[in-house]
Amino acid sequence: MSIKNTLRESKREIKPGSRPLIHANMLNQQGKTDMALLLLVLSLFACKKVGSLNNGLALTPPMGWLAWERFRCEVDCDEDPYNCISESLFMDMADVLVSDGYKDAGYTYVNVDDCYMEKNRDSQGRLVADHNRFPSGMEKLGKYLHSKGLKYGMYESVGDKTCMNYPGSWQHISKDVRSFTSWKIDMFKFDGCFTEHWKLDKAYPEMGQALNKTGRPILYSCSWPYYFFAAGMPFNYTQLPHYCNMWRMYHDIDDTWNSISAIIKFYGDNQDLLASLAGPGHWNDPDMLIIGNYGLSYEQSKAQMAMWAVFAAPLFMSTDLRDIKPELRNILLNREVIAVNQDPLGTQGRKVLSRGGIEVWLRPIIPRGSSAVVFLNMRVDGTPVKFTTSLRDIGLTKRQGYHVREIFHEHDYGFMHPGDVFECRINPTGVVMITARLQSP
Ligand SMILES: *[C@@H]1O[C@H](CO)[C@@H](O)[C@H](O)[C@H]1NC(C)=O
Ligand SMILES: *[C@@H]1O[C@H](CO)[C@@H](O)[C@H](O)[C@H]1NC(C)=O
Repeated sequence: MSIKNTLRESKREIKPGSRPLIHANMLNQQGKTDMALLLLVLSLFACKKVGSLNNGLALTPPMGWLAWERFRCEVDCDEDPYNCISESLFMDMADVLVSDGYKDAGYTYVNVDDCYMEKNRDSQGRLVADHNRFPSGMEKLGKYLHSKGLKYGMYESVGDKTCMNYPGSWQHISKDVRSFTSWKIDMFKFDGCFTEHWKLDKAYPEMGQALNKTGRPILYSCSWPYYFFAAGMPFNYTQLPHYCNMWRMYHDIDDTWNSISAIIKFYGDNQDLLASLAGPGHWNDPDMLIIGNYGLSYEQSKAQMAMWAVFAAPLFMSTDLRDIKPELRNILLNREVIAVNQDPLGTQGRKVLSRGGIEVWLRPIIPRGSSAVVFLNMRVDGTPVKFTTSLRDIGLTKRQGYHVREIFHEHDYGFMHPGDVFECRINPTGVVMITARLQSP
């Protein structure tokens, strides 16, 4: 979320095609060997000791609902009372999260994004909720969410202005954190539009420290690396787990399959670095789930859910849960795919094979030695593709064999050994997802 459309357009001009390696600029004009060496060093460093901010949060990827992708900055509640950014929108979503089973499935955060404020701070310099759209105030909204057993996510931005031109937190960090504490927030997303990069480097750690000092556990979501990536500037990714529970590295998601396939490509192109950063307490964030909106087919919706599970990604739905097709709701609530996303090992998956437009992605899960595997069809030529492989060829090599189960069709393949052949048909821009579990000892 975060970037307003205009700014995002200009950023896309800087990086057309949106596929550069995130570390490319750290290396400038050096050759491939140097790049590989640096990646190795970075991942060795990160594997050896990934420090973290120790707030005890996000031990598995956080889950919830976030307003931005679907509801953006609609502030005209006279024209569009049902969809405008207002306390009733968040209360509606909270109600549905509880009544329709999302909360029970793990989606507990309800996150306010940009555009909740008045355009000016009050006479004492404090942030003020928009009087018309949040007449009860931000503290009351938090009380409502907490009364439903949900958690409260809040938003601000590093610069003088937020991405949509509301008051930003620059030179107001301690004051704003006092407001957030009085509102009893549980999560905080810090955006970074319109800001010099030295200010980002200063403000992200400073905000983290201010949040820590409140004594209240507040999950901290950073957009810090994204703004370096977007500007083509070097960034020290290994510092992220020390400061943030999750972070955005890549462009905002929007409501298209193109957007999702660009994110998947970015993960594949940078998987050594990205996978080395992820783990309990600290996650890469590929941005929101857009399932239930206008741009994805049923197959593509399953594909996003499956890939976000393999990515060990935070799962923040941004859709109108009051009005979602049952088959899409079932994807969001699929217990088996959520279990892969929430797997306690916290290991991010990797692309292990790519053949004829089919990508095979594998994520280690419990019991140790087991895997979730996604067969992803990136082809768009309209017909299901038959894919045949031995388990061994996709990295499932344990001699004692696996119990193989297909997730979305709830089909058991039964017991399979590494030499056995696995065959499936994968729909265009769709997935087949399996778990291959070793028997627990
Ligand atoms: C603040 O940081 C310290 C040191 O990392 C940590 O032990 C503590 O749990 C943190 N407190 C909160 C509320 O995040
Ligand atoms: C990157 O950050 C880590 C962790 O804060 C630090 O130890 C390391 O020295 C930094 N690397 C560079 C190249 O600045």
